[in-house]
Amino acid sequence: MKKILITGGAGFIGSHLLKLLIRKYPDYHMVNLDKLTYAGNLENLKSIENASNYTFVKGDIVIRDFIQKLFEEHQFYAVIHLAAESHVDRSILAPNEFIETNILGTFNLLHAAKTTWNEKDEHIFYHVSTDEVFGSLGESGYFLETSSYDPRSPYSASKASSDHLVRAYFHTYNLPVKISNCSNNYGPYQFPEKLLPLMINNIKNEKPLPVYGRGLNVRDWLWVEDHAAAIDEIFHRGSFGETYNIGGKNEWKNIDIVTKLCQIMDQKLGRETGESAGLITYVKDRAGHDQRYAIDPSKLENDLGWSPSLTFEEGLEKTVDWYLENEEWMNRVTSGAYKSYYEKQYTKREA
Ligand code: NAD
Ligand code: TYD
Repeated sequence: MKKILITGGAGFIGSHLLKLLIRKYPDYHMVNLDKLTYAGNLENLKSIENASNYTFVKGDIVIRDFIQKLFEEHQFYAVIHLAAESHVDRSILAPNEFIETNILGTFNLLHAAKTTWNEKDEHIFYHVSTDEVFGSLGESGYFLETSSYDPRSPYSASKASSDHLVRAYFHTYNLPVKISNCSNNYGPYQFPEKLLPLMINNIKNEKPLPVYGRGLNVRDWLWVEDHAAAIDEIFHRGSFGETYNIGGKNEWKNIDIVTKLCQIMDQKLGRETGESAGLITYVKDRAGHDQRYAIDPSKLENDLGWSPSLTFEEGLEKTVDWYLENEEWMNRVTSGAYKSYYEKQYTKREA
């Protein structure tokens, strides 16, 4: 059996990817390494926790000796690396952990792979990254695989740094790497610090909907299972040393998404049309707020035949339904430390 290490498998995207791979490839044994930070939650993996081809290991990618021993013990065939501190606003409040996990953690995994993989061409080191490494677009243009790196937040700078390290290990040590840079994901199990689940939760609880600045920043949204499917394609059929941009050609201004969520939820919660939109509150903008992200996914579409499976309307509907049906999940992840984060981020944040 080929053993594959997934890092960050208890997070949002990692849990969807694990569920896909465990069901689709019974001949792989998936080892999920996760520190279980505030963003990691084993409840996300309930449906596969007893699968015979799955093992969970609690641990921190920043601890070099531990990572080295894990690689020696398991002799992994491949790594799919998702573990990261992932939220821009938290990186503005406290960048330290972003530098440690995203940069040093990635370095530790690269080092362990380099030193334990003798026949390098029999392995795969897949690094999952973000389109935020390319910086901020104006009204026109798209991020291509060849776009220059221009990260502007501590989060994107740390991810850019990790991407550079991964490429350096390809060129310098022939480590068999693959990288993908994806646009904003949405769907079930996303921690309610990110735009969609935060707004859905606040609409449901009739709390203010904090729209940064004038709500005119643009993001390019992708259904999380489509990201997982793209990773599966690139992992199996993508070329070594290559980068693939993943996105669904689905750009939205923040205010338009929030308004759309309000409309959907008015209907689902039996409220009057326009009632939830009354909660929209413009607040002080994020520092260094990137204006627009937009991915050109032509390489992935043309070379590997990937395309998104859902329209945004279908995806939003499924997402809202999931959060409404999974109140307990939301209550659990918003208890404890979430309250103090929320207060720090949003209290007294007048426009
Ligand atoms: P997430 O914050 O939901 O999950 C991150 C997971 O990593 C959590 O389970 C957490 O416990 C774990 N983790 C954090 N620090 C760790 C450490 N030191 N050691 C071990 N585990 C640790 O993040 P996500 O949204 O699922 O993103 C996963 C990856 O995809 C990240 O690398 C992120 O940069 C990238 N990405 C995310 C998006 C997005 O829209 N969410 C888009 C493109 C790329
Ligand atoms: P987010 O989900 O944090 O993703 P990212 O910053 O990585 O793109 O934010 C998406 C967009 O929504 C971004 O332009 C910031 C904005 N935003 C708000 O207006 N209000 C909020 O409360 C949050 C969390 C985000």
